[in-house]
Amino acid sequence: MMRSLLFAPGDSDKKMQKASAIGADCVILDLEDSVAAARKPVARGMVREFLQSAPNPAVEFYVRVNPLDSGLILDDIAAIVPAAPTGIVLPKANSPQDLLAVAHFIDVLEAEHGLPAGQIKILPVATETAAAVFSLGEYRHNVPRLSGLTWGAEDLGAAVGASANVDANKEWTQPYLLVRSLCLFAAHAASVQAIDTVMADFRDLEYLEVVCNEARRDGFTGKICIHPAQVEVTNKAFSPSPAELEHAHAVIDLFARNPDAGTLQLDGKMVDRPHLTQAERIIALAKSIEARHGAA
Ligand code: COA
Ligand code: MG
Repeated sequence: MMRSLLFAPGDSDKKMQKASAIGADCVILDLEDSVAAARKPVARGMVREFLQSAPNPAVEFYVRVNPLDSGLILDDIAAIVPAAPTGIVLPKANSPQDLLAVAHFIDVLEAEHGLPAGQIKILPVATETAAAVFSLGEYRHNVPRLSGLTWGAEDLGAAVGASANVDANKEWTQPYLLVRSLCLFAAHAASVQAIDTVMADFRDLEYLEVVCNEARRDGFTGKICIHPAQVEVTNKAFSPSPAELEHAHAVIDLFARNPDAGTLQLDGKMVDRPHLTQAERIIALAKSIEARHGAA
């Protein structure tokens, strides 16, 4: 489970190094919008070399390539697949068909470089075009290499000519709340991670905490970050608290002691099967965090 996914521009060795050592579960090395057109070739080489330096085994490394229609993506993928990143972030994906096209490029390159077939994952930014919104439900049909779904509000806003995507209180406006919800359900329908979008206002850590807690409450399991300061808040929000763990253990014990019961009570509150499912989810999350970072 990737709780925090921190972007670092692919043409900055300093930021790639720093991002890898800050406690983020995933670092996304960027070849798209944070790299100027003239810098793309040098960035490809830097990202490849950086990955080959085997930066940090506790971190999953993804590379955000350029979009399918950019004319740049083949060169991006050819440069970085030999360095075997965990996965590729595909921006401006319109539908699972776009992922299939990218998966075919990767198939060929994995074979050419002796990598296990299907090893490199794809994480689409699945709401950055207007058309993409209507294909979110299709990700549930066994899309190869899919590891998660995330959403974006900046490019989508630009695509529809929106003058803003948040209101005066920094809350998402209606169109982006809709897209956020669709992404959440599409990811769960596809049994992959639901990853919340970036909060661009990276100095406001108090509001970040609120936003992360709301995202986790709703069923998101991680969030994109753009600044190192966001990582700690994000990791904490997407980890089970001691009280949650205690409660989850209590629910599981209760059902274990009453294997034939459908509904039980715990501390004067009804618990039934959905509570057991949720408790098991929380224990699984704690185990996955422990596996990544050693016993907490
Ligand atoms: N990864 C690694 N290090 C980062 C970082 C990032 N994403 N963002 C900032 N830092 C570093 C800075 O280099 C600086 O390091 P230093 O103290 O050793 O000099 C330190 O963290 C503090 O940075 P700060 O001065 O607060 O911000 P900044 O003005 O240097 O950078 C951004 C602001 C937005 C340019 C920067 O956060 C950034 O590049 N973010 C990622 C952008 C990106 O990849 N976008 C694509 C996805 S939307
Ligand atoms: Mg973008």
